[in-house]
Amino acid sequence: MQKSTAIGRIETAVCGPWVQRHPEPITGVPLLPRCRLAQQLPRSPGMPHDLPSFTDLHSHLVPDVDDGARSVEESLASLAALRSEGVGALVTTPHLLVPRLTSEAAIDRELAVHREAFDELADAVGQRSDLPALGLGQEIWAPDAATLLRVLDRPGAGLAGTRWLLVEFGFELQGTHEDVVRAAVAAGRGIIIAHPERYSYLPGIEPLEQMRRWRGLGALLQVNAGSFTGHYRNHTAGSERLAWEMVAHGLVDLVATDHHGARRTGVSPLEAFGALAARGERSLAERVMAGAPSEMMREAVFELGRAGVRSPGGAG
Ligand SMILES: [Fe+2]
Repeated sequence: MQKSTAIGRIETAVCGPWVQRHPEPITGVPLLPRCRLAQQLPRSPGMPHDLPSFTDLHSHLVPDVDDGARSVEESLASLAALRSEGVGALVTTPHLLVPRLTSEAAIDRELAVHREAFDELADAVGQRSDLPALGLGQEIWAPDAATLLRVLDRPGAGLAGTRWLLVEFGFELQGTHEDVVRAAVAAGRGIIIAHPERYSYLPGIEPLEQMRRWRGLGALLQVNAGSFTGHYRNHTAGSERLAWEMVAHGLVDLVATDHHGARRTGVSPLEAFGALAARGERSLAERVMAGAPSEMMREAVFELGRAGVRSPGGAG
């Protein structure tokens, strides 16, 4: 059950209700022309000043609900590591394996399990000053439109209270899955397709062309940070090549970590940023790792650690 009754809200003329539940309601947070939460947070010590503050929309750091972080402690360590690499805001997205949830009640129960574990993590995050702002979402496994429609209207479905849905089709694609995109768009939701560079496409389907079709229908494409540095080459051999081809063809809308906690190390937003910059794609990296996701989360609900309360925009 959500703890929303304990929430203190930040109401401003230009921002959505960013939320902090733990200490007193936030006052004195300066109003910015565009509210970019990540940019209001202090930089981590040692972070280069010319780097943008990243907003990460895909990770598995809700403790012990999926194949990601196993404990609050593991989640906190992963969050601290990401903060040290420049992640200022993060929506963590436990797997919502809808095809395995055989009833509507089972979906509700699973979302409640996510929320309860997230709340426990958020309690701990609220006591720290060295962590990203934290929101809750899901990575929704929806191989067809009917599956997506089972979760679309549920309270809490989406990224941190926004219209955006992070959706995966399963690594072995069974078709074009374009009906999923159409269903989301028809419902007025934004859809982000998770790591299309990691899918196995059916024979006869050219991956880049399929990606163009998804985008043409209104989807955004999210590449995993680790794909640029070959992190998944043992699992999906072509993922690194395809990620760079997506860059070359202008098909990257977002880059996120898909961080799974300590059990799967090797995904580094800073290394991805550096790899893109080294190939002359720094402005793209800034857009897909900072500008675009930050803008998409303008209306999001985040937990703010103490850093976000006491010194927004401070500490250089
Ligand atoms: Fe994921």
